Amino acid sequence: MASMSLQTLLFIVLQVLGHVACLQEVSDRDCNCYVTNDTSLNYFTTHNFFDFRSLGHYARVPGPIEDPIEDSSAPLTSDYFHDDHWAKVWGIQRWNNSEAVASGDRPVLMVNSPNNIYIEKNTDESASSETFMTMRTLKFEDHQSAAEFESISMAYHFLSVRMYARTIGAPGAVTAMFTYKDDGKATKLVTVQESDLEIRTMDPKNKVQYTNQPSFAKGYDVPEATRNATTPIEADWTRWSVHRMDWTPTDTTWYIDGNQVASIAFQVPRDPSQVIFNAWSDGGEWSGNMTEGTEAYLQIQWIEIVYNSTGNAKTTDKRDANAASLLSNVKRDGEGCQNICSIDETTKTGTPVLVQGAAASRMPDRILGLGLAYIWIPLLLATFLI
Ligand SMILES: *[C@@H]1O[C@H](CO)[C@@H](O)[C@H](O)[C@H]1NC(C)=O
Ligand SMILES: *[C@@H]1O[C@H](CO)[C@@H](O)[C@H](O)[C@H]1NC(C)=O
Ligand SMILES: *[C@@H]1O[C@H](CO)[C@@H](O)[C@H](O)[C@H]1NC(C)=O
Ligand SMILES: *[C@@H]1O[C@H](CO)[C@@H](O)[C@H](O)[C@H]1NC(C)=O
Ligand SMILES: *[C@@H]1O[C@H](CO)[C@@H](O)[C@H](O)[C@H]1NC(C)=O
Repeated sequence: MASMSLQTLLFIVLQVLGHVACLQEVSDRDCNCYVTNDTSLNYFTTHNFFDFRSLGHYARVPGPIEDPIEDSSAPLTSDYFHDDHWAKVWGIQRWNNSEAVASGDRPVLMVNSPNNIYIEKNTDESASSETFMTMRTLKFEDHQSAAEFESISMAYHFLSVRMYARTIGAPGAVTAMFTYKDDGKATKLVTVQESDLEIRTMDPKNKVQYTNQPSFAKGYDVPEATRNATTPIEADWTRWSVHRMDWTPTDTTWYIDGNQVASIAFQVPRDPSQVIFNAWSDGGEWSGNMTEGTEAYLQIQWIEIVYNSTGNAKTTDKRDANAASLLSNVKRDGEGCQNICSIDETTKTGTPVLVQGAAASRMPDRILGLGLAYIWIPLLLATFLI
């Protein structure tokens, strides 16, 4: 027993509970908060899920647009991106780096274009979905065409964000999923707060870079801020994997297919932030150069996020984060976080399951007890094993 890691033990316990209790699938309306399956016992007030797997109706790969002005002013590639479910949460970007090019900071003109974000048919052999979303970046003679979408809200304040994704294509590009907060003085790198997952297509396929920015200051590298992590075997970044980033008050932790690959407690972002995805290159040292006529892609089957938000009415109530009060909230009717849901213990990605709450009391007692065990067994284990 002593040789078994806490994580392994937790995993087994949760698996067993999940199967025995047959946790009930519910809709977000039935959830007051969400727990994740890491050991930090963080919980979050809001859940969102974007599923690109069955959008055959919208699938279309748009031809590249060579003129940079036309490229950045291109229309959205399908009605999917006009729909409120997407458009109320994400803003597809059109900005470019012409100022940085003019000042000599960046060698290559990079233009973000909505034309590079589209729904594509999955033509993999034994495909795991009908479609996915592609974010494309490609090199023309005179400019780099890039893709970026940013959350419209800048008020994400701690989260667990996951994408089922892969990166493929030519070297010289970067694909990324990150939080971003800038106090407005964009030229001063030290004002940036940012937790990054970055894949450089020039890097070995089993290496992913994770960073709490800034990773250099006053002309020096800050090694504590960044990790050059190795992917689990069989999960290099060209393969479909769940890439997960948990930003909490104490650290940012990254997982690939449920395996922790990096955790950084240094320089953890403090303030409410945006969430951003992109695929880009600017010919700088970090991204490198793409060869003219080549392309690289970040392809995503789904994005799932649980988060707190400073702008969210639900976060103004008087809940307490620590485990003891989480438990007492559970036991007290009519107050606190009554219905606790999990997005990890479900068998149907994107659909939460109820792990404890008022609605669960309609279930037989035996199952209710097991639901509670979801919380107290990991707690006991954590107490005795650490
Ligand atoms: C770059 O952005 C600036 C400011 O929005 C705009 O004036 C300019 O036309 C853009 N250039 C290109 C090539 O898109
Ligand atoms: C990560 O390490 C590998 C060597 O193991 C190296 O090739 C790669 O360039 C490194 N990536 C970064 C971003 O430093
Ligand atoms: C990329 O190419 C440009 C010329 O188009 C050059 O100025 C720049 O130094 C190159 N970047 C790297 C990292 O080699
Ligand atoms: C999210 O908000 C709830 C309610 O305010 C709070 O109790 C909880 O600790 C927060 N979670 C994190 C990770 O900060
Ligand atoms: C946590 O849940 C994810 C599914 O979201 C799963 O892949 C992973 O293995 C789980 N980790 C543990 C330690 O149970």
